[in-house]
Amino acid sequence: MQTSLLLMALYLSIPGGTQAFKPLISGGGSVTHRDITQRAVLRKTAEVCRALAAAQGRDFSLPIDDSLSIIKLQKACSADSSSSSLVSTILFQSAIVKMYLSNALVDMAFALSKAHHFDGETFQGGRALITAGVSEVKASVKRGSFLLARLALGRVCHTLQDFYSHSNWVEMGNRQPYSTLIRPDLQLVNLAGPSTPTCRSCMGGNCTDNILPEVLQLGLLTSGYFNLFSSNKPAGKCSHGGSFDRTSGRDPEGGINKDDVGSSHGHLHHTAADVAVNATMELLEDIRGAAGDKDFLRLMGITQSSVLCFVIDTTGSMSDDITEAKRVSFSIIDSKRGTQQEPSSYILVPFNDPGFGPLITTTNADIFKQRINALTASGGGDIPELCLSGLQLALTAAPPSSEIFVFTDAPAKDTALKSTVTALIESTKSVVTFMLTDNLRSSRRRRRRSMGGASAIWPSKGGASNRMAQSDAQLYHDLAQASGGQAIEVTKEDLHRATSVIEDASAAAQVTVLQEVRSPGKAENFSFTVDESMRNLNAYITGGSLSFTLTSPSGVSQSNSEASGPLGTIQTVGNLHRVSLTTHNNTGLWEISLNSLESYSLKVIGQSSVNFGYHFVEAFGGAHGDFGLKEGRPLTGDNITLLVSVTGGDSVTVTAVALVEALGSGSEVNGTLQSLGSGDFLVTVARVPQGRLWCV
Ligand SMILES: *[C@@H]1O[C@H](CO)[C@@H](O)[C@H](O)[C@H]1NC(C)=O
Ligand SMILES: *[C@@H]1O[C@H](CO)[C@@H](O)[C@H](O)[C@H]1NC(C)=O
Ligand SMILES: *[C@@H]1O[C@H](CO)[C@@H](O)[C@H](O)[C@H]1NC(C)=O
Ligand SMILES: *[C@@H]1O[C@H](CO)[C@@H](O)[C@H](O)[C@H]1NC(C)=O
Ligand SMILES: *[C@@H]1O[C@H](CO)[C@@H](O)[C@H](O)[C@H]1NC(C)=O
Ligand SMILES: *[C@@H]1O[C@H](CO)[C@@H](O)[C@H](O)[C@H]1NC(C)=O
Repeated sequence: MQTSLLLMALYLSIPGGTQAFKPLISGGGSVTHRDITQRAVLRKTAEVCRALAAAQGRDFSLPIDDSLSIIKLQKACSADSSSSSLVSTILFQSAIVKMYLSNALVDMAFALSKAHHFDGETFQGGRALITAGVSEVKASVKRGSFLLARLALGRVCHTLQDFYSHSNWVEMGNRQPYSTLIRPDLQLVNLAGPSTPTCRSCMGGNCTDNILPEVLQLGLLTSGYFNLFSSNKPAGKCSHGGSFDRTSGRDPEGGINKDDVGSSHGHLHHTAADVAVNATMELLEDIRGAAGDKDFLRLMGITQSSVLCFVIDTTGSMSDDITEAKRVSFSIIDSKRGTQQEPSSYILVPFNDPGFGPLITTTNADIFKQRINALTASGGGDIPELCLSGLQLALTAAPPSSEIFVFTDAPAKDTALKSTVTALIESTKSVVTFMLTDNLRSSRRRRRRSMGGASAIWPSKGGASNRMAQSDAQLYHDLAQASGGQAIEVTKEDLHRATSVIEDASAAAQVTVLQEVRSPGKAENFSFTVDESMRNLNAYITGGSLSFTLTSPSGVSQSNSEASGPLGTIQTVGNLHRVSLTTHNNTGLWEISLNSLESYSLKVIGQSSVNFGYHFVEAFGGAHGDFGLKEGRPLTGDNITLLVSVTGGDSVTVTAVALVEALGSGSEVNGTLQSLGSGDFLVTVARVPQGRLWCV
């Protein structure tokens, strides 16, 4: 399976070495921030699904405890829980991964900030970070910025969870969360004063009883001091402990952290982790209260649906296209209303010249219908329009991995935005497909017929056709290619036959099976494997003057000239060939033999609950030698680490992960795999190959 993976540039370099529950990887049966976050998210999400099920009179029989898994919960939460329904956990899993990678990043980005880790008795500072972070999460949810909300939530969870490892809360016998940390209306009380001694030296390396008995009796809250570079700490105060903490060598020696089972207070590691899970659930409940159940489930990524996002040229010649955009969006909205595949929000960006926007983003299908209905084609000045400005706005507003459809018949005026738009495509992993109507190729053909070979004449402004030269269309081809989308060139009359790709894209549990681009084109054979989990396969072959033959696993062939054949139906419209494969006996190795000298793209999609997502992560040194979310893109030739999340349940085993060059040689670099459990793998690739990459 492949998904677009576009790379290159920029490494973060941050001092490592703070101490906390380990972020992702633990040895010896210890619990990580990842485990704590995932356990809390699964349990709280299950509670919300159970409440919604009860309200709708549905059954929810899943026990809510640590036996919950992502796939079990995703199934139990879907309204259509018949065993045959396709569920994909990719959004849910990816949301959890984002939260815990952002959580882990706190160890890297704020390594030396005491407040982020409740080190050195910074209780006011730590609590202030939590309350500010929670406000940020709530505000982002309200704006529909679920990605930003998840990243903020991950950071808040880190600080909250560290409290239970770094303070003496559990040593004082507490087994419930310290709610004051998430309640700005309550006072932090019983804090040990700045000159109150809190610890004594450990006895022969055994730190079990190093907190002073009077501190525990009086219920004074304290936490360990930590410093990588200096052994200074206030007199009589506890240290964090561990070999990286210079303060723990100074009297009182030793530490009190519970980061893992081997820590100074490792005997309380599991107790602290369990309370941290419940504290994280309490925080999630607070966010649920502000967001409401529906948005809470969107924040967690368990709501299946995607966005419907259109960017539409509204200049004078576009009225047919606008009519078609209305028709197809209405059809999608009406057929999915009330189902699990109902889009969670709708985005519309009109553009024109000299203006673009406004951005219309709504969760209400009827409002979207009204706004798209109100679009009219008019004006335009000279021919080029502000297409990339409109697209940029859509890419910024849409959640990551959205499918964005652009309708235009004119070249872009704002070509200077190409690199900005490409970078946005790479960072959001969104897929952009262009519906280009009446380009030079189709109009020239028509002209030859009607004018007996006269050379193409540029029409005056407002002419119904021939607004875009092939060189202008190339920009759209490049952007489509960079995103894993297509640039479909079609006449205005035929547009309605090409928009089935928009309806295909709105199906549930969509996966990309194969994706290839050749520019310039050449004769080549491609193969892809279809497994039992795959349904409703469609192949899109986009390009001019091409021929192809498809061969099934059992050796049956069908060429592009057979519109209806043994393997399925082939619909040709403009430069798009859409092949719908028949659903029976198609598991195994397929082949497509393609021949064209013009550039082409090939994409095979289907529906399956088996899929994967990935994030770049960065190793950081220091006490934990662990990983956090990496910003920016890796450099060609460098080694990189990816966190790959495979969804689809227990039937799936991962045997290899490789990075493959998408353009050019197709050379492959294999990665080494390390399982983290729950379908997550760390994949280390020794050398990033050149050029644009896809991940198989
Ligand atoms: C450390 O001391 C406590 C009592 O103070 C004792 O229960 C425990 O077994 C000791 N641990 C080790 C490893 O000696
Ligand atoms: C956490 O909460 C659950 C109920 O939600 C409870 O059963 C469990 O004992 C709590 N854990 C701790 C360590 O208090
Ligand atoms: C594709 O495969 C066919 C038969 O399997 C073979 O005849 C043809 O030469 C191959 N084409 C290329 C470009 O490799
Ligand atoms: C389906 O499988 C049967 C037997 O394996 C084979 O005879 C038939 O040609 C296959 N049909 C297609 C369309 O591949
Ligand atoms: C990966 O690259 C980094 C920085 O370029 C280097 O320090 C590290 O040793 C490399 N790791 C491996 C396993 O090659
Ligand atoms: C990568 O791994 C696959 C499967 O294990 C193997 O077939 C292939 O030869 C390997 N490629 C390289 C370049 O090592």
